[in-house]
Amino acid sequence: MTVNENSKPLLTVKGLKQYFKVSNNYTVHAVENVSFQIYPGETYGLVGESGSGKSTIGRSIIRLYDPTAGEINFNGMDISGRINKANSQALRTQMQMIFQDPMASLNPRKKVRDIIGEGLDIHHMYKTRAEREEKIKNILAKVGLAPEHAGRYPHQFSGGQRQRVGIARALIMNPKLIIADECISALDVSIQAQVVNLMKDIQQETGTAYLFIAHDLSMVKYISDRIGVLHLGHLLETGTTEEIFENPIHPYTKSLLSAIPAPNPVVEKNRVALSYDYKTSGIDYNKGTDHLVSGTHYVKCTDEEFKKWTE
Ligand SMILES: Nc1ncnc2c1ncn2[C@@H]1O[C@H](COP(=O)(O)OP(=O)(O)OP(=O)(O)O)[C@@H](O)[C@H]1O
Ligand SMILES: [Mg+2]
Repeated sequence: MTVNENSKPLLTVKGLKQYFKVSNNYTVHAVENVSFQIYPGETYGLVGESGSGKSTIGRSIIRLYDPTAGEINFNGMDISGRINKANSQALRTQMQMIFQDPMASLNPRKKVRDIIGEGLDIHHMYKTRAEREEKIKNILAKVGLAPEHAGRYPHQFSGGQRQRVGIARALIMNPKLIIADECISALDVSIQAQVVNLMKDIQQETGTAYLFIAHDLSMVKYISDRIGVLHLGHLLETGTTEEIFENPIHPYTKSLLSAIPAPNPVVEKNRVALSYDYKTSGIDYNKGTDHLVSGTHYVKCTDEEFKKWTE
């Protein structure tokens, strides 16, 4: 989906901090001053190594956590502080999440019909049982499952089918934003592409936006319009997918990209994996200013560092 730069962002995250107090004298700074925007109908990929704070950002946005600091605006609503009832209701329907492990996130004792229908039940989104059943059948068809699957339990599905159920559950609420946290990582490689293509088709049809959280950069490249690179809770670089892949600026981004194997054996033979060690890099993320490079591409670093990398 191409992003209309003139349209208003669907989600604006500004200066988000998420700290966890883990003991009397120790606090984890999981997310530190993160700002980015997601436009209606686009896919924003969030990448970074394990523990960099990707899931925490997703969970703070959907308010599974109360943000320590920062502003989150979603579809014109301020959802960062105390949320009133109307906004809370809107948030619970218009923003949905798909999880990594569908087996763990789907209630094993419920039939698929009731797993998918739960959101409809809670938010009173039908008038008759027949209307509920109709909505469930339609959504099952949309994710490539059959009507009779509605009567089955989660363990009676394959991993790929189960993730389709997870997508159907999110989709039935007709959300404006879906947060997909490593939603294909647990699947077979052959099934990953199927599910990602299904997500793309659904986006074309419904215009939903995705926050796509993943390790696998090649999949992120394939699905994302724009990408944010996260390291140690800091968003180091963000830009269009092309900008990040063709013209990465931050040394950490360069090292991430250099780790991707090339499909062409000649290129792969000459690939040099760049190492990056924060401790010896001499870079202080906390001193960072956001340097605007082009339209949307920015890098977090000091003036000196910026000059050094871009010379
Ligand atoms: N509820 C919590 N309490 C304490 N610390 C937490 C909590 N949630 C996350 N953290 C810490 O915050 C940091 C970021 O975790 P997070 O799960 O967001 O990383 P991630 O980028 O999603 O990693 P992965 O790729 O492994 O899923 C980690 O150091 C983690 O231990
Ligand atoms: Mg995670």
